[in-house]
Amino acid sequence: MTGIFISFEGPDGAGKTTALNNLLPLLKSKTDQEIVLSREPGGSEIAEKIREIILTIHDEQMDARTEALLYAASRRQHLVDVILPAIEQNKIMLSDRFVDSSIAYQGAGRMIGTKEVAEINDFAIDGQLPDLTIYFDISPEIGLSRIKKDHQEQMDRLEQEKLPFHERVHEAYLELLKNNPERIKKIDATQSLDKVVADTLKVITDRFPSEFNLGG
Ligand SMILES: Nc1ncnc2c1ncn2[C@@H]1O[C@H](COP(=O)(O)OP(=O)(O)OP(=O)(O)O)[C@@H](O)[C@H]1O
Ligand SMILES: [Mg+2]
Repeated sequence: MTGIFISFEGPDGAGKTTALNNLLPLLKSKTDQEIVLSREPGGSEIAEKIREIILTIHDEQMDARTEALLYAASRRQHLVDVILPAIEQNKIMLSDRFVDSSIAYQGAGRMIGTKEVAEINDFAIDGQLPDLTIYFDISPEIGLSRIKKDHQEQMDRLEQEKLPFHERVHEAYLELLKNNPERIKKIDATQSLDKVVADTLKVITDRFPSEFNLGG
């Protein structure tokens, strides 16, 4: 029995959080291992405080590299406080977003460069990539329209960016998928929630058959 680390990625409104919540009981019924669900900054106090600085709307403009460094710093702390202990204790760690988000959002979205952002994140994660990444693929138009329907007033700073930003993010995710075919598996997130959850369950149980081997 070993710990497993799975990240969930994709554009805003792809349905990551919704699918994860629906997936959790299904995964639990198939394994004896404890499952930990987290989302960066994930209840790590320091990571949370760093994230707060990023998401607050300030009078002055936050520099794109400052933002990328803060995300990397927040990720590092969440990794150390939450993810690594879970893996160490042979748990199944599910993270709603991880390093690919920074490469897509800061690297491509903010145009700092995906290579540059990958480099500072290499320093932050120190080799600890997910064993598997589930990528929820959806066009920015559909993803954003799902979000707008929900909470029109309370979109955070990142979600307020213009459509081209989100198109660059989407392109970068597709590039990550192409370059990491072993680690990243694509799910068609435009499907019904039930189908998205079923497809995701199959990818995970196919990849880790000895961990998810219980009936139900
Ligand atoms: N398969 C689906 N079909 C239609 N609507 C969906 C589907 N999955 C989720 N939704 C709806 O889309 C909206 C956004 O979903 P959700 O918050 O899970 O996305 P997300 O990927 O976590 O977004 P973010 O990156 O902003 O956190 C919610 O209203 C949710 O109910
Ligand atoms: Mg979410």
